[in-house]
Amino acid sequence: MHQDIESVLFSAEELHRRVTELGAEISRDYQGRQPMLISILRGAFIFMADLVRSIEVPCTIDFMAVSSYGSGTTSSGQVQITKDLSDDIEGRDIIVVEDILDSGNTLYYLLQILAARKPSSVRLCTLLNKPERRVKEVDVTYSGFSIPDAFVVGYGLDYNERYRNLPYIGILKPFVYTGKR
Ligand code: IMP
Ligand code: MG
Repeated sequence: MHQDIESVLFSAEELHRRVTELGAEISRDYQGRQPMLISILRGAFIFMADLVRSIEVPCTIDFMAVSSYGSGTTSSGQVQITKDLSDDIEGRDIIVVEDILDSGNTLYYLLQILAARKPSSVRLCTLLNKPERRVKEVDVTYSGFSIPDAFVVGYGLDYNERYRNLPYIGILKPFVYTGKR
């Protein structure tokens, strides 16, 4: 285990199992349709890559980046699009693929931005969910795991752009962001 990790919440095997289940659920729900998966960079890139490989209906993918987090551990109000989609979403069945739903601020604003582009449907698929931290109400259709209020990294999730490469999800030791041992 990495020295900055306090404990492992989900091993690579556990992640694989749950992501496969989510893919199967999406495949069942979207029979006869061709959903467009929109991944929010950068945190969701690994989840997205694994998820699409367990989806059996034809689908397309696109990416978007928004800023809400600086280098701290809590998000602010309104979000800004820093990288927009390449494709038009009008009339499409959209699945937004996120790494973690925390305060809900990011997705609350993002879903409004997407809705204004007239997709035929929008659903949210998040790997992790911290319900205790919710500030803005967001409707989630697919949720991998609910987790307690702790700062987690790995499997795409970062602190200050680090730890994304860990193959598991772990709780970060608080001294990393507080500076206090
Ligand atoms: P929200 O706007 O507060 O819901 O925050 C959503 C974004 O904050 C996620 O997409 C992550 O990038 C980041 N985030 C929230 N909690 C964590 C965490 O525990 N570890 C790493 N990133 C997090
Ligand atoms: Mg993110």
